Amino acid sequence: MEHATAGSSFAALAYLVAGVCFILALRGLSSPTLSQRGNRFGMIGMTIAVVTTLVTHVPMQAVGLVLTGPSGVVSATGPLFARIDFVTVLEILAAIGIGAVIGITTARRIAMTDMPQLVAAFHSLVGLAAVLVACAAFLNPIAFGIADMVIPMIGQPFAAIHGVSRIEMGLGVAIGAITFSGSVIAFLKLNGNMGGKPIMLPGRHVINLAVLAAILLLIAYFTQDQSAWIFWTITILSFAIGFLLIIPIGGADMPVVVSMLNSYSGWAAAAMGFTLHNSAMIITGALVGSSGAILSYIMCRAMNRSFISVIAGGFGAVADTSGGGDKIDRPWKRGSAEDAAFLMSQAEQVVIVPGYGMAVAQAQHVLREMADKLKEHGVRVKYAIHPVAGRMPGHMNVLLAEANVPYDEVFELEDINSEFAQTDVAFVIGANDVTNPAAKTDKTSPIYGMPVLDVEKAKTVLFIKRSMGGVGYAGVDNDVFYMDNTMMLLADAKKMVEDIVKSLD
Ligand code: TAP
Repeated sequence: MEHATAGSSFAALAYLVAGVCFILALRGLSSPTLSQRGNRFGMIGMTIAVVTTLVTHVPMQAVGLVLTGPSGVVSATGPLFARIDFVTVLEILAAIGIGAVIGITTARRIAMTDMPQLVAAFHSLVGLAAVLVACAAFLNPIAFGIADMVIPMIGQPFAAIHGVSRIEMGLGVAIGAITFSGSVIAFLKLNGNMGGKPIMLPGRHVINLAVLAAILLLIAYFTQDQSAWIFWTITILSFAIGFLLIIPIGGADMPVVVSMLNSYSGWAAAAMGFTLHNSAMIITGALVGSSGAILSYIMCRAMNRSFISVIAGGFGAVADTSGGGDKIDRPWKRGSAEDAAFLMSQAEQVVIVPGYGMAVAQAQHVLREMADKLKEHGVRVKYAIHPVAGRMPGHMNVLLAEANVPYDEVFELEDINSEFAQTDVAFVIGANDVTNPAAKTDKTSPIYGMPVLDVEKAKTVLFIKRSMGGVGYAGVDNDVFYMDNTMMLLADAKKMVEDIVKSLD
């Protein structure tokens, strides 16, 4: 008994240390300079949590017995027998090995631009894990130590699941199933297997509200009656609501959805932690859940979307967000690498605006080279980062950090926007939506209301993209292409910047 107490105190302490490491990891990840340190803390915390779980894995656990008559509890006994765990440490290690091989192979192969769908796919696995743990706990509650064996005077003995465990199980399976089906739809949309257009079912809000209310009522009923039909109905309805909540959301809102599913997966893990009596999972799940919710809120603000509308499944969403843009023949100016090099070398200040195209072309390294050359010419160089530039939160920051761009040259939208009016050249490389002034003026635009970088206010705008026909993520044309002070540099971003560097030499 003393041994068990010492073991559980050790586990509690180790989980606390792991929890502190996770908090320090989040703290580190909030700044590019500290992000590597943050990642290291995360890895240390996770190693401590996994090793502690394995070391304190007790294969035998005492189970109590409650004897009841038809009118209620007759007597309760102390520990009667021990349960043998159905998983061995060896099996766990094999599972970790298989997971590690899949994880490492995927991480090595995945292109940076496919990261959002990978994240969505990973979230679906967390959701599925929560559902499977809840199912296993429901089917074998004694093995999880969340039930007492009841031997009624009449009828078969059965395992009575503790009231609080039924709530945890109901919530765990519901959040897990919503996360799973929602993430699968997000994956299919981001991966292009499903159209990015919102699918608006007639009366969807009534259906969604009815299904959500039914799930909550069934969870409440489950605390009184542990019949299998209630548990399975909660599971099926939750899978359905995850699907229903995500299909009305258009491609432009997908970043927020992915971050919200991240939050849901955290809450699902926390619910699993309660079922498994694992405080590290509860702490980690709560951290992921709350940080994901905060990130979703920040992104909603950055894209001027209502947080409630996105979590309620596109409530009030614009029906068609893929636009297409009115393509009319308008005059525009084409420039060459030499023109761009000349204009920038004469400038006092150049502000670089990177976007998705820079990621596709992997132009970040040669871009830094170009900035270094400009600095040699006495030009002040700054980078302007839009919060949803690219295809995932922090996408541009990661790429620029990879190219060793100094952090003090990188500015957030709100810190740099007022500077465009005093900037000689705004150098837009593979960005489109995040510079589109229609977001400020055109109420019919799918990006209306999203704060954008005011590049058009610079004396000259240099715009790198591959063709005039190509549109950005939201599928709308950009008036800046046709402005008098804009020069279009039509080419692959990496090739164009390489040529500019040669011209600067
Ligand atoms: P976009 O609006 O998608 O524009 C990308 C531009 O890059 C296009 O003009 C494209 O034109 C050009 N391009 C593509 N490949 C190129 C290459 N190899 N070389 C040169 N140019 C290339 O990008 P953005 O301005 O970064 O805006 C991001 C959009 O994605 C927003 O609408 C945002 O809501 C959405 N989104 C963001 C996230 C997150 S969290 N960041 C996640 C999902 C969606 P061409 O085809 O003509 O070259």
